[in-house]
Amino acid sequence: MSQTSPKKALDAADIRARKGATPLVCLTAYTTPVAQLADQECDLVLVGDSVGMVLHGFDSTLPVTLEMMILHGQAVARGLSRAMMVVDMPFGSYEESPEQAFRNAARVMAETGAGAVKLEGGQHMADTIRHLVQRGIPVMAHVGLTPQAFNTLGGYRVQGKGSAGAQVLADARAVAGAGAFSVVLEKVPADLADQITADIDIPTVGIGASAGCDGQILVIDDMLGLFDAFKPKFVKRYAHLAGDAAEAIRTYADEVRSRSFPAAEHVFSNETDPT
Ligand code: KIV
Repeated sequence: MSQTSPKKALDAADIRARKGATPLVCLTAYTTPVAQLADQECDLVLVGDSVGMVLHGFDSTLPVTLEMMILHGQAVARGLSRAMMVVDMPFGSYEESPEQAFRNAARVMAETGAGAVKLEGGQHMADTIRHLVQRGIPVMAHVGLTPQAFNTLGGYRVQGKGSAGAQVLADARAVAGAGAFSVVLEKVPADLADQITADIDIPTVGIGASAGCDGQILVIDDMLGLFDAFKPKFVKRYAHLAGDAAEAIRTYADEVRSRSFPAAEHVFSNETDPT
């Protein structure tokens, strides 16, 4: 008798084992239907705090709360069966102390079923990452441009140019040494991303980094052309859904005004729909 076992979701160890192998395919998702689509191709789905900007209309990620991350995490979990789900720790939920980080990360893990949390920061977050990992919470780190720190980084500019590259390298080494299973490299020069990828023994996941990283991630609304308030250089649009949606809404409005919608096939009658 042939037996098919259900597909197991990937976990931190599976992602960690992909160092230097086939690149990791990663996207963000915030809702169940989009998670179902991403699950078909992705190794890792991030419930990013970018949700605040792309779905809630905030102009930065700073107003995002733990409750929002948990609610979106629960929605995404319902759409995944194979990809690993990672949930972002929002601004203010982990920076104060390793204890604060554990308390909030434990809630995220317990209430969403995430396989890991992601938090921003390099050397200065290493003790917190170690604290979480030693207590059973896998951590994906995030160095280079860390958007939650845009107020102290002077905006969303490229990080690690020239001699500043040494700090980003030190950050990547620190989070790898602290036990992170993977690290996002955001908006750093490509040669620095390649150097870091060669230097550390955990997978690097690039966004605005280099094709030489161990994987890539994009914000799904950016790559689908759904969020077009602005387009960073590192975003490639694989579809233009905002334009398609605008066109569909325009056609609907025209048809409502001209009474060509609803048509006969969209309405009910006693003859064709007796029940
Ligand atoms: O919040 C997010 O979507 C992220 C990715 C851009 C890596 O952190």
